[in-house]
Amino acid sequence: MLDLRDVQVVFDGFRALDGVNLTVPDGELRFLIGPNGAGKTTLIDVITGLTRPAAGSVRFAGHDLVGRKEHQIVRLGVGRTFQTSVVFEELTVIENLDLAAGFRRPLWTLARRRRGVSEAVAEALTRTGLEDLAGRSAGVLSHGQRQWLEIGMLLAQRPRLLLLDEPVAGMSKDERERTGELLTRIADDHTVVVVEHDMEFLRRHASTVTVLHEGRVLVEGSVGQVSADPRVQEVYLGRKASDVVGHRP
Ligand SMILES: Nc1ncnc2c1ncn2[C@@H]1O[C@H](COP(=O)(O)OP(=O)(O)O)[C@@H](O)[C@H]1O
Ligand SMILES: [Mg+2]
Repeated sequence: MLDLRDVQVVFDGFRALDGVNLTVPDGELRFLIGPNGAGKTTLIDVITGLTRPAAGSVRFAGHDLVGRKEHQIVRLGVGRTFQTSVVFEELTVIENLDLAAGFRRPLWTLARRRRGVSEAVAEALTRTGLEDLAGRSAGVLSHGQRQWLEIGMLLAQRPRLLLLDEPVAGMSKDERERTGELLTRIADDHTVVVVEHDMEFLRRHASTVTVLHEGRVLVEGSVGQVSADPRVQEVYLGRKASDVVGHRP
């Protein structure tokens, strides 16, 4: 589904990505971890066309993504969340989903009541568990609910690949748990790449983990394999690998 070969990104002579190879098969829920500055967000930027690599290839579902514009990549079925919110606070939950689904209706018609919502919107609403909040304005949502809405807005666009950059940052324990379950369900019929630092979250929800360090893939494997790797220990200085990603029983 996703295949990166020898991808390099250079910012003013600094190699943010220094030869990244990454393959994510169809239907996988892949976790991407690594210390701050490892290049995780840059990797997502490269896949989504925000940043152009200096070298290497990025392929998605048989398409070469390098050189394509962001909206073209979205249309091919790649969706991402940003760390900054894209939710319209004045609009309701369902209106936000509706907008994301890409109805080419004039903005003023959003205020009107419509008889039904599209299948994609209805599905996004149930998947994210936001049915009860459908008519509330997005501005009143809790931090966690807002993150779910953003994931719902991605789903409403019917992507095949979802790229989520630190989706549980700032969430309560309960919200993190619900998000983990949501991501697992989404991966039933999507390919999902999640950047996440929260180790407890990883321990509970990750199966395959890719560790990025200084712009390269350091280790890749199961949570158990990665946590047992001495190189991972070293990257997370002063902590045992078991403290970093934990062991599954
Ligand atoms: N637009 C940019 N211009 C210059 N340097 C950047 C830019 N974006 C990221 N970097 C640098 O690239 C490195 C990787 O950043 P990033 O991908 O955001 O790391 P991560 O998401 O793993 O914390 C960092 O050293 C960061 O300072
Ligand atoms: Mg980042």
